[in-house]
Amino acid sequence: MSPNEPANPLGDLLRESRRFPPPESFAARAHVRDRTVWPEGEEARLAWWAARARELRWTKPFGRILDWDPPFAQWFADGELNASVQCLDRHLGTPRAHKAALVFEGEPGDRRTLTYAQLHREVCRAANVLRALGVGRGDRVAIYMPLVPEAVVAMLACARIGAVHTVVFGGFSAKSLADRIVDAEARVVVTADGGWRRGHDVPLKEAADEACALASSHGVEVARMLVVRRTGRACPMQEGRDAWWHDAVAAASPDCEAASLPAEHPLFILYTSGTTGKPKGILHTTGGYMTGVAATARMVFDLKDEDVYWCTADIGWVTGHSYVVYGPLANGATVFVYEGAPDFPAKDRFWSLIAEHRVTIFYTAPTAIRAFMRWGDDLPARHDLSSLRLLGSVGEPINPEAWMWYRRVIGGDRCPVVDTWWQTETGAILISPVPGVTVTKPGSATQALPGIVAAVLDDAGRPVERGSGILAILRPWPSMLRTIWKDPERYRQVYWSRFGPSVYFPGDGAKRDEDGDFWLLGRIDDVLNPAGHRIGTAEVESALVSHPRVAEAAVVGRPHEIKGDAIAAFVLLRGGPPPADAGERARLADALRDHVGDEIGKIARPDDVHFCADLPKTRSGKIMRRLLRDIASGRALGDTTTLADPAVVDALRRQYAAAED
Ligand code: WTA
Repeated sequence: MSPNEPANPLGDLLRESRRFPPPESFAARAHVRDRTVWPEGEEARLAWWAARARELRWTKPFGRILDWDPPFAQWFADGELNASVQCLDRHLGTPRAHKAALVFEGEPGDRRTLTYAQLHREVCRAANVLRALGVGRGDRVAIYMPLVPEAVVAMLACARIGAVHTVVFGGFSAKSLADRIVDAEARVVVTADGGWRRGHDVPLKEAADEACALASSHGVEVARMLVVRRTGRACPMQEGRDAWWHDAVAAASPDCEAASLPAEHPLFILYTSGTTGKPKGILHTTGGYMTGVAATARMVFDLKDEDVYWCTADIGWVTGHSYVVYGPLANGATVFVYEGAPDFPAKDRFWSLIAEHRVTIFYTAPTAIRAFMRWGDDLPARHDLSSLRLLGSVGEPINPEAWMWYRRVIGGDRCPVVDTWWQTETGAILISPVPGVTVTKPGSATQALPGIVAAVLDDAGRPVERGSGILAILRPWPSMLRTIWKDPERYRQVYWSRFGPSVYFPGDGAKRDEDGDFWLLGRIDDVLNPAGHRIGTAEVESALVSHPRVAEAAVVGRPHEIKGDAIAAFVLLRGGPPPADAGERARLADALRDHVGDEIGKIARPDDVHFCADLPKTRSGKIMRRLLRDIASGRALGDTTTLADPAVVDALRRQYAAAED
């Protein structure tokens, strides 16, 4: 086991022997019914992807499939298309035109449905508004919104005119938004007055204003801001810069020809955490991304016209991009969208939504599933969940117990469960069961999808046929990231240097079992996954040291029953030892948590704050992270000793030194 490998929080996965073949009734009607779909060999693989790409509508057909100059790939590079056309125009003139594209329910219970024809008109109007604001091809637009239909409209409107959206999760702080505006050099921001979350009106426009001021002090001037009225909270509008979305959109023409864009035209930048304090702007382009998300949404979710599909992710994450917006809409699906929290006004909100909207496909994260388990079986039992036919999981490893509960209690033992592995960088799902074909196992993402070549490698890069190692993707795929925005060198170094420039290194540990199935074991780098959200330990550390009381900080993860990872911070204070008084220590810990919330966003607030007299470091000055992980999870220290005692730190350092130096 390499020192970086996490202690396996999932138990001994390889002892898991339960098997669930696809139910016959499901398999009989599934889009994919047998394994002949998986292409074999590189030539067949490329031809298979080209065939998937040709299922889209191209304004100029492509002749080239893949140009691969490791680690830089171009797919279908001489073709032209538009992402919004795949999601909208393609369905007009078919019976899908008047089916629901989006079915929305707000947290307060307000509902709206947009058919494909209506969504198309809204997107065209919004695209015209953006054009009138001076947004052109390749310009970046930041979207900082609650999960309301206008957020989807804004994304597709950018795509329509060839603008590049960068969606920033509404839970991120003004400072995080500012960092992204500056890095992307976004001159236009689309936001809302607020959004509803657990009955509270979360201010977004205020944060956006603050972000613009911060961005301006870093030399990036936001020229225009569009504001969607959602909660009705008062928000001052800045003359000459701000406009209400509904005024502008209502006045705009509903006709807007989609820009014909080269396949490699940038579609979006989505920031995600890595191992440094600076989030990476992951760049996705048009043709390959759309090919990947359209094909995988069809294969993995088996989308049919009569389905009501619900992915609970926010559009601020890649799951929201690929499997709320682009993938399902490209398939003409009916997408259910819910704005708020799962426990508002009560802990059975999701089940009542599924029952009322007759949801057939439900896709959520293990953290949510574990919380539902804890809330008890009687909550789902109160609702009719018989409309469900397929369940999905994403974002973190799912433990077999949660998988079994999901299948039994939510899926009534009748719905296949697809555990889908992928990342912001991969754009689309790479490893997952195909529900009409794959025999599933609780806790396993099973097999690479057609067109994907995945492997588990040992430290030296040799394939591990059976056992654990490092996950790697051996061939490029259409929806792969193209680069890190403005930082191709970091792109090469982070993803394509571990095993050479042509092997993609995702940063996850994995095992393969006797059938060759993949079991994902979590990150092997300093990235945490609390509640399925990616946070770099270095980001939290730099937020902590920006507090005037903090001299040094080290952040590690510890296993958490519901959230997967909890965030534990070890803090060395400036100017002397931590306060002796327990109450004072607790207040200071809270102040530091709030500070991290202000710097990054609530999702990054440390669960534990440990004050120490000294941070344990190796002789070469590296923080002893394994020791800190052991302390955080209660393995290294008893209840009575603390790191505030220098002698304790010293003793531990000696004990761990050999392992970590
Ligand atoms: C983790 C979310 C185990 C993994 C789509 C990956 C998973 C990171 C799974 C990407 C899964 C995602 N099983 N782990 N099914 N899905 N992960 O970029 O560590 O927010 O590297 O994309 O989440 O997180 P990201």
